[in-house]
This record gives sequence, structure tokens and C-alpha cells, in this order.
Amino acid sequence: MNDVYENNNSFVEKDSFMAKEITFYRLDDNASGFQDTLSAIVNYLTQLPRMVLDGSIKFPKEPSDIARKVFADPIVSDFLIRSSRLAVFSKELAKSFRGDLDALAVIKQLKFFYNLPTVAVLQQFAKLVARTDNVEATKKWNSIIEKIAACGLGSMTVRVLLQEIEGPQCYLDNAEYLEEADPHAVYPTSIYRTCEGYVLAKPDASVIESTMSLSLTTTIKIVSGVLNPANHELRNIYQALGRCVAVVDDKVEKLYGNALQAYFDRYNIELCKLVFSGNEANKDVSTVENILVSLKRKRVSRNEPVLVIGGGVISDVAGFATALYHRNTPYVMLCTSIVSGIDAGPSPRTCCDGFGFKNLYGAYHPPVLTLTDRSFFRTLHHGWLRHGIAEIIKMAAVKDESLFNLLEKGSSDLVWTKFGTEMEDFNGDHTEFGKLCDLIIGKALESYVISEYGNLWETHQCRPHAFGHTWSPGYELPAGMLHGHAVSTGMGFGAYLSFCEGWTTRAELDRILTLLSDLELSLWHPIMQDVQRIYSSQEKMIEKRGGNLAAPVPKGIGKCGYINHLPYELLVIRLQEYLKICQGYPRGGLGVEAHCRDVGLEDPTEGSVNQALPEVLNGFENGYRDDTTDNDDVLVSNGHAELHKGYEKDFQPGEKRKELSYSEWIEAVQKKRTKNIPSHVAFEKAEDTPNPPVFKPNELCHPGVEDYAINMTQVPSLDIQKIALATEDQEMFTPCMVGQLEAQFLKMMAQLANAKRVLDVGTFTGMSAMAFAEGLPSDGEVVTIEFDPKIASVADQLFRSSSQCHKLTLKVGDAVSVMNELNSSDEKFDIVFLDASKDQYTSYYKIALDMLTPSGFIMADNSLCALLYDEDDSRRQALHDFNQMIKNDKRVEQLVVPFREGVSIIRPKKYL
Ligand SMILES: NC(=O)c1ccc[n+]([C@@H]2O[C@H](COP(=O)([O-])OP(=O)(O)OC[C@H]3O[C@@H](n4cnc5c(N)ncnc54)[C@H](O)[C@@H]3O)[C@@H](O)[C@H]2O)c1
Repeated sequence: MNDVYENNNSFVEKDSFMAKEITFYRLDDNASGFQDTLSAIVNYLTQLPRMVLDGSIKFPKEPSDIARKVFADPIVSDFLIRSSRLAVFSKELAKSFRGDLDALAVIKQLKFFYNLPTVAVLQQFAKLVARTDNVEATKKWNSIIEKIAACGLGSMTVRVLLQEIEGPQCYLDNAEYLEEADPHAVYPTSIYRTCEGYVLAKPDASVIESTMSLSLTTTIKIVSGVLNPANHELRNIYQALGRCVAVVDDKVEKLYGNALQAYFDRYNIELCKLVFSGNEANKDVSTVENILVSLKRKRVSRNEPVLVIGGGVISDVAGFATALYHRNTPYVMLCTSIVSGIDAGPSPRTCCDGFGFKNLYGAYHPPVLTLTDRSFFRTLHHGWLRHGIAEIIKMAAVKDESLFNLLEKGSSDLVWTKFGTEMEDFNGDHTEFGKLCDLIIGKALESYVISEYGNLWETHQCRPHAFGHTWSPGYELPAGMLHGHAVSTGMGFGAYLSFCEGWTTRAELDRILTLLSDLELSLWHPIMQDVQRIYSSQEKMIEKRGGNLAAPVPKGIGKCGYINHLPYELLVIRLQEYLKICQGYPRGGLGVEAHCRDVGLEDPTEGSVNQALPEVLNGFENGYRDDTTDNDDVLVSNGHAELHKGYEKDFQPGEKRKELSYSEWIEAVQKKRTKNIPSHVAFEKAEDTPNPPVFKPNELCHPGVEDYAINMTQVPSLDIQKIALATEDQEMFTPCMVGQLEAQFLKMMAQLANAKRVLDVGTFTGMSAMAFAEGLPSDGEVVTIEFDPKIASVADQLFRSSSQCHKLTLKVGDAVSVMNELNSSDEKFDIVFLDASKDQYTSYYKIALDMLTPSGFIMADNSLCALLYDEDDSRRQALHDFNQMIKNDKRVEQLVVPFREGVSIIRPKKYL
């Protein structure tokens, strides 16, 4: 048996033992021959208006006659028919157009001419004419387009038009041929995607082996003034459709909504704006659902490109919604920020966060057209620019050294001039700087595409583009960080790991850290002390990356290598080493305006992170949110870890930025920077809230602040030092001591208040009592109460051997009982210091109010632990309730001092 079937979709059986081969499409791959056809049509289209003008041909006036004349011409029909048979997404065809990308984009559209609105085909003709620089002919074609668009013909598909005008038979014959040869060209679902398949089947069809592929087409363009009606980019897409459904970022709508409306009004295109929040806090699946519902309400069809306008968040969520809508709907991305303009915008990875997991849901769905227009950057907050530039540094560091050099050249001027859009205070050459900005954006996009478009579905994990994104997803949301700052910390750490591998020299590492630091990005964030969290993120990343860490890091500058093994113990050491290095950079490696809330954006830790997880997710199987709050594993900078060999000696952090006088600095930098910082004055009493806000990490101040303050504060007395040493020796929980700074504070408060008697509720090993005693006159007294007899005996010994023993009275027992006893004996105190059980503060407070001398006051220690204790620790809520009770108590005036873990000072009003 040797049957051979030529038909489409049929088995071609070569012999009975060989597998049958199933073929699908018959495309014309004679790409080079096509160039002649193209020259002929360009010539015709360019000459046509001239011939009309000089009278050599008679051109009709009625739009339908114009259409008939154009489509019936054999040069036009030959060109369109040949275009429809081409494999327009093939490499071969693309290669033959290497010298003419504009024509390639036209041919990719015209393959589908039967289903394009008539005006869209004419626009493609106009584009071919515009390539010739023949201004007159281009103008004429644009006026033909306007005429046809204004009558009903414009939105009619060419297929229908040809029926209406009784077009030549060749179009019908070709359509019939295409039904078998390439149905994409005649009945496409989308003009932006085609698929192929190759199938072999055993003769009895018991085994079938197949491969399938999908080809997508997309265009990325850097444009200028896209909302200026003279710019035809958006008109060319939406005029033919008669309307534009646009998902618009809310901030962009406020700033550019009118210009957007005016643009579409100018071309008589209906604009349906769907405005959504572009905040990270709203990058949730519910936003995606709302977009889906809005698209459905507007009856968006599955081949109608939705226009998405905004930054990274809106491109992710709206792109994801279009991926889901009708399983797949095209979208055009108009990028208004750096993050979207060079990264999230053209990205195939659309997504949203869910239940606090960063990018939990997603789909691979690139836009069909990305437009990056730098003029939008003028209205970006400086902090947003800074975090956007982080994504450019990422590409430069692992993909393109020349881009890295350009970034070093532009440095912080890129931020302060808002990428060359706010040049009033810029002293250099404006044109040159503008060119530099364009080149940086172009090269960033090019590096992006080189890294990503060959691996669209992330089918392998050699992804330079993921540099900086291995550890940071574990802490970006919990820390409330801006994405770029989180990535920046990951880049700095990754670059250090590369140095440790011997892949990057010290000088190169310094260049990377210096560039990040000069742009005021974060090299470090306090949340990175939580090694467990970072390790957990790493483990999740290994899962996500198919069993490999494959962490991209620079190999030198402009090349990429992958770290695949980083055990926990080594991670601890490397993080310690890295922290030390960061401390040698300006601001100790911390970023400027590193958090969403610092730049006026909603804090994501107050949004999606707090949503309750469904039962099924309680094990945190799939994402990066990590509930690790156990302080035992927190990495602290104790200086014990050894630096990577050879590092400490030679490392020279980069040069500092050029010096400015104080007034120059205020003028040039600080005024702009602080423009959006609030006044820090409340104008009315805060509303009560059921719970304290989520607040991580576990300390109030940036690391280093307390160390510095301690260094600048008087060294404590020998008695205080002894208490500290004894507490450590006996392995008691040292954080229960008030510590040096607070001890000095308590002593000074006693002195300033001329106190004689202090009640210290909660002795622990006696540091607070000792400090107060030191602040009292020789006849003063501190009565201190400790519940635990074992701890009390340690304190007792320390008191007895101290210089203040005559002032110290220790009482062992339950604080409420002892206080009641003292109160019933009418004992009075100038200061009552509350520092025992945090969930008893309200009871202590009520008794203490009764025990004060006329000028006495209460101090409550640890009051800001309402922010710092673990979420499931009941003391957190108890302290919040206590703080609010004090705030609402009309009898007292109060101040919460954000010092150590918070000290509230509470003073009865009647004595003021
Ligand atoms: N899909 C990807 O491949 C990819 C890549 C990088 C980043 N991202 C995502 O991007 C997000 C970060 O982007 P983003 O939106 O927070 O940052 P952004 O810099 O794009 O925007 C910051 C803020 O600026 C607003 N904005 C945008 N354009 C503006 C303009 N011209 N004028 C004034 N305000 C403007 C936005 O509403 C947003 O609140 C993260 O969620 C990150 O995961 C995704």
C-alpha cells in the first residue's frame, strides 16, 4: 500500500512501515522574489497621486469608486494576494527585510488583508509611501484615508468591501485556495499569532508523535509625543476599529486624561476609558477580575487590541486580564514610566499578586505593540524614576557593558532631569543629554529583547533578565519596598556573590555598587537581616525554576553567569559580609525613598499581604510570602563573620558624589526630593483602629542609628555595666534590659523632674531601677517590683553591691498586688515607670494615676511594641488597646516617643 494524499490536514503515507506524516499549511517561502512585487506596489502607490494631479489618469471622487479603483488594480491585487500567501512570521522573510523594518511590519499586517478594515489596509499603503520620503504622495494618501474613514466604507472589512464593489474574481479564488493552504490568512482568530504543527503517526495510529509551535508578532517602538495628533501611531490602530477601549492607570488619567481624549476626538474615534489603580497595593487578582468585567461590559471582541496605558503595575494586571479574556485578546502597551517603558511593558510575563504572594498568578502574553514615550517621564515622582532605572542597571550589568558605561555617564542626572524631560536646571548640553537618554532607553529595550524574546515562555532558566530577582521576591512586599529598590538589593548581593566566585573583580563589583548607590538605590534593607526569610525565598525560587537556583549574576560587566548552589550556612556568611561592604557606601547602603509609602504610594503591606489565605494555602507552598517572624534566626551585624578572603584589605568603595554647598544642595536636590513629603503635623485626633498596622522589620530605626546614638552618648556607670554583664553571663533574655540609651534617658528624666521617689514596675535584672537611682538625690528612693524570685535575686545581689544600694527597695510579687498595697498605704511617686507584663499595662496605669505626686507622671516602656511584636502575639493587641485608651483618656496629656521600642510619657492635665 502506498497511498499519498496531498491534501491539507491529511496523512501522507510514504510506505506501510513508515509513520504517516501530517502536514498542515502550504506557505510561499519565496521571500526574496517578493521584494520585486513590493517595489512594484510602492512605485504604483507613490506615482498614483502624481498621475492624478497631472491628469494622466482620472481618479474618481466618490469614496466607493476610489476603493474600487485601488483594489481592482492588478498591481494592488497581485501584491495583496502574494502577501496573504507568505510565511510572514518566518525567520527567512524577516531576514529578507533586514534593511526595511517598516515594510516588514506592513507585510505582517497585510497578510490578513481580507479581514482588516479597509481603512487599515489603506493606512498600510500610506506607510509604504511614507518610507519613500515623498511628502506630497504621503499627504495625498492620508487625505484618501480621511475620506474613506469618514464614510461607512472605512470600517468595512476588505472581504465585505470586495463584495460590495464587485471586486475582481482573483480575490475570491485566492480566498478559496487559502482555506486549505493557510486558513490563518483568510479566517484568522487573531492577526498577531499563527501556529504550526508536525505530526507523525504509526500506520495503525497506535502511537502519534507531535510537535506544535505558536508564532507571535510584536513591535516595540520608542516614540515621542504620542498623544500629539500629528503622531499617527494610535490612530493607525484604532481609526479602523472606530473605537478604542483603554485601561488607564489612575495617576496617568489625572495627568493625561484630557490629552488622551482630545487625541481620539481629533480622529473621531470613540474612546472608552477604564481607569484602574496603578498601585502595587492593588496589584491583586480582584483588580484583574474587575478589568475582565469591564472589558465584557464594553463587549470587547477577541481580536480588538485593548490599549493599556500606565506603569509596571497596570501593564502587569491589564496584560494579564487580556491574556484571560476570551483566552487571549491582543493589547497595545503605551508605557508611561521607566519600569513599563523598558521592562514590564514589552514583557510577555503578565501577572498579579495574590494573598501577599508576589506575582502569584500570571500568563505569558506580550503586547502586540509597545510604545515607549519618554515625555511621560516628566510627571513621574523622582522616587519612581529611581526605582525604574534599577531595571536598566539590571540589563546593563549582565547584558551590555556599553549601556552600563552610558548609565555611569548619566548617573544621578538621569533622575534629577527625569530622563531629560525637566532640563530647566541642567547646565550641560541639552541636546546631547537628550540623545544619551534615548540611547539608554533604546539599548535597555534591546538588551531586554535579546534576553527574553528567545525564551518567551521561560522554557529554560538561563535568564539574565532575572538578575536581582532571586532573593528579593521574598521580602519586597513584606518590607513595603518599591520593586526597583528590592531588585537593587538583590543585584548588589548577586554581584557580591559573583565576586566571591571569582567571576567579577573588585573594581567591577565596586562599579556596580557605586552606580546603584549614586542613583540612591538600596544596596541593603534591614529586612535582609532575616536570613530565614531570604533562604525561604531561595527555596521557593528553586521550586519555581524547575529544581535549579540558576541565579543570574554578572560575570564581569555586561555578561551573565549563574549561581546554582548557595547553602544556608554560606548564605548567612555571605549576607553578613555583604552588609559590612554596604556600610562602606553612602547611607550605609540604604536607599533613598525605598518604600512605596516614601513616594506617596499605598503601602503594599497594608493591602494584599494582609488578606486571609484560604485554608489550602496555609502551608505557603507556592509563593514568596514567608511568615517567618522568629527572631532567633535574625542575622545581626555582630562583626564576627569573616569577610571573604582578601576583600577587607583592598576594597575601596567608590568616589563620593561631587560636593555642594549646603544652600546649593537645598536648591538642587533637597527641595525636589522633599516636595511630596508630608508636614508631619496631625490636624485632628486619629480615628481608633481595631488593630495596629502591620509593621516590619522588627526594629523601629534603621540599623546603625542606635549604634551611632550609643557611641555619642555618655558611657554608662560601672553599676549599669555590671548589670549588663551579669544578665549576659546568666544567659537571661538581654532585650528585657532597657539598655544604655534608655538607662541614660531615665536617669535624666528623674533629674529634670527633680524626682525624689520613683516606682519601677518590672525590675528584671535592675537596669532601669539603677538608672533612676542614679538620677535621684541621695535621699531619694526607687521602689522596684519583680514577679520572678530567681530574677529578683540576681537584681538584689547587683543592688547590694552597687553604689546606689541605699536608694533601692526591691519588692517581689505580682505587680498589681504590690501596687495596690503601696496605694492603700498612700505611697506617692514622682515617676511611675511601667515595664512589667505588657498585657497588664491598663491595670497598672489605673493604679498609677492614683499614686502620683502633684507634678508626677507615668512612663510606659515598649509602647511601640504594638508595631513590633509578632502578629499572633496577644501583647501586640494589648499594647495597641492600651495606647488608644491613653489617647482617648481626657484626663491626661501624652507623648509617644519613638525611641528604643517606644516610651509613652503620660501626665495628668490637672497639674499642668
Ligand atoms: N512583567 C514584568 O516583566 C515586570 C518587569 C518589571 C517590573 N514589573 C512589575 O512592575 C511593578 C512596578 O511598577 P510600578 O507601576 O509600581 O512602577 P512604575 O515606576 O511603573 O510606576 C510608579 C507609579 O507611577 C504611576 N505612573 C506611571 N506613569 C506615570 C506618569 N507618567 N506620571 C505620573 N505617574 C505615573 C503609576 O501609577 C505608579 O503608581 C511591580 O509590580 C513589578 O513586579 C513587571
